[in-house]
Amino acid sequence: MESPKAKILVVDDNAQNRALAEATLEDEGYEVVLAAGGEDGIRAVETEKPDCVLLDVRMPGTDGFAVCKRIRALPEGADTPVVFLTALRDVDTFDQALRAGGDDFLTKPVRPTELILRVQAALRLRRMNAELREHYDLVRRQRDDLMRLGLQKERLTAFVVHDLKNPVNTLDLHAQLLLRDKELSPRARQSVQQIREEARSLLRLILNLLDISKSEEGRLVPQPSRVNLATLTAEIVDEFVVRSQAAEVSLERSIGADSVYADPDLLRRIIENLIDNALRHAPAGSKLRLSTQREPEGVELRIADNGRGIPEAQREKIFEPFVQGTGEQALSRSGRGLGLTFCRLAVEAHGGKIWVEDAQPGAAFCMRFPDGP
Ligand SMILES: Nc1ncnc2c1ncn2[C@@H]1O[C@H](COP(=O)(O)OP(=O)(O)OP(=O)(O)O)[C@@H](O)[C@H]1O
Ligand SMILES: [Mg+2]
Repeated sequence: MESPKAKILVVDDNAQNRALAEATLEDEGYEVVLAAGGEDGIRAVETEKPDCVLLDVRMPGTDGFAVCKRIRALPEGADTPVVFLTALRDVDTFDQALRAGGDDFLTKPVRPTELILRVQAALRLRRMNAELREHYDLVRRQRDDLMRLGLQKERLTAFVVHDLKNPVNTLDLHAQLLLRDKELSPRARQSVQQIREEARSLLRLILNLLDISKSEEGRLVPQPSRVNLATLTAEIVDEFVVRSQAAEVSLERSIGADSVYADPDLLRRIIENLIDNALRHAPAGSKLRLSTQREPEGVELRIADNGRGIPEAQREKIFEPFVQGTGEQALSRSGRGLGLTFCRLAVEAHGGKIWVEDAQPGAAFCMRFPDGP
């Protein structure tokens, strides 16, 4: 049932019709306001703010269609349901009623039960509209908040990343300088090596973050050139010498395809991320295999370890941001689950593909780059 307090305005030039509608509606507990003509009706919408208007079509002076249009133009009347009452049963009148902004259309003679049902329906519609608008406003407010937060986050990321990158890079450079000192004691040398590794790991994290946010903004654009894979992989393996020795893992290379058309910086960081992951999972005494191969669809790179591997169900999920295996935080020192996200975005920015296979035992990360010019 509708609230019995709802106020209905009846606009009709015929006194008998008005009296009939009034009696029917009041019997149902509605409050009824009467207007004997169009201009009176419009005024009553402003002063009485009814919940629903019953509007006769044919009236001397301003007719029902004109009244409805003017009600719609009022702030009080924009969403008030208007039910037309008319003796005319033709499609043309019906179309005109809809065009004028009417919600419903009743033909005379009107049976009291039908009148009540239509009024109830109109009131329900109005209530639903109000609720819908409330929901819509809520969703819009939430969307605006999210948008604002997103923009703040982007600014913060750019800030943090740029301000961190330079000092960490400088740290690494100074560590490299120190290592050139022949007088350095073995213990000091080891410490400096450690500083370098930590700095590199931090730098890797910062650059992953930077490139992921670049990619979100559509700004991760590779600058490809012909890259010599023998040279590049040798340099990378060299960087990991200390860590692989500490982990007692040997790094093996097998260069089938000697070059690839890719962005040298991005490719270096993709491989660094994959080796970093593999070293974290490879058991002591095992081998880590880095291979390149020319296939009909392009150049394939593969990095395989003998670790615990990645369960089938997780092979897609691990590429999503912040996804790490269980207990991973303890395992990784600076790990945040961003490495593979960066790898996928960077490989795909080249038009390539990256996926995981079972190395039986272990995980094999494979990439395919389309062959360039
Ligand atoms: N070689 C691998 N063997 C087994 N699991 C792996 C291997 N490489 C990645 N994973 C799993 O995938 C997850 C996501 O890897 P990803 O490189 O994105 O993050 P991370 O290494 O934990 O942190 P980050 O790279 O940001 O320092 C890892 O936490 C791990 O569970
Ligand atoms: Mg990683």
